[in-house]
Order: sequence, then structure tokens, then C-alpha cells
Amino acid sequence: MRFCNSGTEANVNALCAARAITGRSRVLVFDGAYHGGPLTFAHGGSPMNLPFPWVIGAYNDLEATLGLIDRHAHEVAAIIVEPMMGAGGCIAGEPAFLQGLREAATRHGIVLIFDEVMTSRLSPGGLQAKLGITPDLTTFGKYLGGGLSFGAFGGRSDLMARFDPRHPEPLPHSGTYNNNVLTMAAGVAGLSQVFTPEAARALNEAGDALRAHLNRLARATGAPVQVAGIGSIMCVHFHDRPIRRPADAGPSELSARALFHLDMLERGFYLARRGFISPSLALEPADYDAFAAAFENFLDAYGPVLANEGR
Ligand SMILES: Cc1ncc(COP(=O)(O)O)c(C=O)c1O
Repeated sequence: MRFCNSGTEANVNALCAARAITGRSRVLVFDGAYHGGPLTFAHGGSPMNLPFPWVIGAYNDLEATLGLIDRHAHEVAAIIVEPMMGAGGCIAGEPAFLQGLREAATRHGIVLIFDEVMTSRLSPGGLQAKLGITPDLTTFGKYLGGGLSFGAFGGRSDLMARFDPRHPEPLPHSGTYNNNVLTMAAGVAGLSQVFTPEAARALNEAGDALRAHLNRLARATGAPVQVAGIGSIMCVHFHDRPIRRPADAGPSELSARALFHLDMLERGFYLARRGFISPSLALEPADYDAFAAAFENFLDAYGPVLANEGR
């Protein structure tokens, strides 16, 4: 494991390491993914993206992705994937899809990178532990630094050994604030005293229960609304069709999302405009109940309007 200062930096380091070690240039990434500012693949990508020769796959479409891998195998250094797409709409990776990527990466000597910057909070061992799928490298960020700037990447010892200065062909990893003492101390305190394995399990169970409750309410009112996600990370979507990849989620600027955001603010609840909901450790059972009640009131007030927009 090596420590840096942001999730973006962790992903850049992991991708550059995979390219340097394999001697290949291309990177397979999924349409709609977000892996950091210069690694943005929503809405056709970003002019600020790193100038790597990307291969863009469709999330949860194993057959098409295996076709892409077969076509480009000798040039692909890495596959980078979130085991649940976070910013893409809280879309869970299907176990068969992720397992298929694992097997294809092994078959072709491609470095499989799980971006767990967001999803690592979903169990004490991250989403990979819940799934029982081990990538070659994992990247981390966010809360793990106890509230301070944090990033980390690590995994297979033969890959990470290349960063050892005693290796005959060492890879550099310099940075003024790498292993920042204050961040490391805050991270240890956070993981040992605040977000303990028990707290992680409890928070994610509460999140699962909340999501199930919200979905029951949506079904009961008949409003075309669904809440996608896993554990303590979820996102409200304003239609009732299946969502397997970001393109299925509908536009992020939908007026229903703005209406929901503003209405919930008025009812005393802050959530991200795009419908992203992430319960925190401070919440009590009564807070979850009050949120569900506000959600139900929102559906009662605007269900008919949503029914027209969602079609
Ligand atoms: C999945 C994922 N990867 C990478 C990043 C980038 O992390 P940072 O903002 O720390 O650079 C984020 C941030 O939201 C993220 O959600």
C-alpha cells in the first residue's frame, strides 16, 4: 500500500504503474464512470482527461466487454472499474460481470484495478470483500484519512514491489505530502475509534434498510421512482425501468431531481442535487424514519407530476 493525497492521485498512480509494468498503453474504462477530475467518462468524457488511449466499455455488459478485451488484449495495460458505480448513479456491478472482468484480466495479463475510493465504506473489507473478488490493485480516498486529504493505492505484492527503490527498475512515487503524518494519525484514529468494523456493518445495514423502505414507499404510491445503491451509498432515480449502467439512469439535470432536492431541503433534509444520498454515522434511527416520512410526503405531493415526467 502506498499513500498519496487524493483518490484522483491514487488512480493516476495505479494506472501509470500498470502501463509501466505491462509495457502496454491502453486502459479499459466504463462509459459514465468517474475516477477523478482528469478521469471523467460521463457525457462523452472530458477535454481535461489524461491523454491515454482509452477503450470505453459498457458497464455490466460482460459479453460486449469481453469482445473489446479480446480485440485489444495485447495493448491493454489495465481495466479500471468501480465495483459499484458511485457518481454514475449508484449502480451495482453485477457479480458475474465483475468476476468475468477478473478472469479476463488474469487470462490476458491485464492489471485489474478496483476503484474503491467511494465503495470501500460498504464493508470493513470494502465492496471487494463483500463480493469475494480480489483485484490486482485497489485505490482508496475520502473518509479513510479521518477527514483530511487522503489517497492510497496498493495490492499485488509483485506489482507494488516495483516501487521499492531497491528494485532493479524502480518506479518513482514522490510527493511532498505522501504519508502525511497528520493524515495518517487521523486515519488510524478514524478507523480504530469511529468507523470501526462494527460501525461500518451497522451503517451499511441501516443504509440497506433505508433503501428498501424508500423503494417500498415508491412502489406503494405507484410513482415512477426507484432508489439504487448498496449499503450507505444510494441514489434516487425518476423512472421505474431497470438501471444497469449510467445511460439507463436518465439525464442528471432532470427537473424531477431538482424538485426532489429543493422539496427535501424544505422538509429539512440535505442531499445532493443529483439525488445522491449518503447517510452518516451521526444519524439516529429517528432520523432515518423522519427521512422516509419526508420522502413519502414528497411522493404524495408530486407523484402525479413525476408520473408524467418519468415516461
Ligand atoms: C470513484 C471515485 N474515484 C475517484 C474519485 C476522486 O477522488 P478525489 O476527489 O479524492 O480526487 C472520486 C471522488 O468522488 C470517486 O468517487
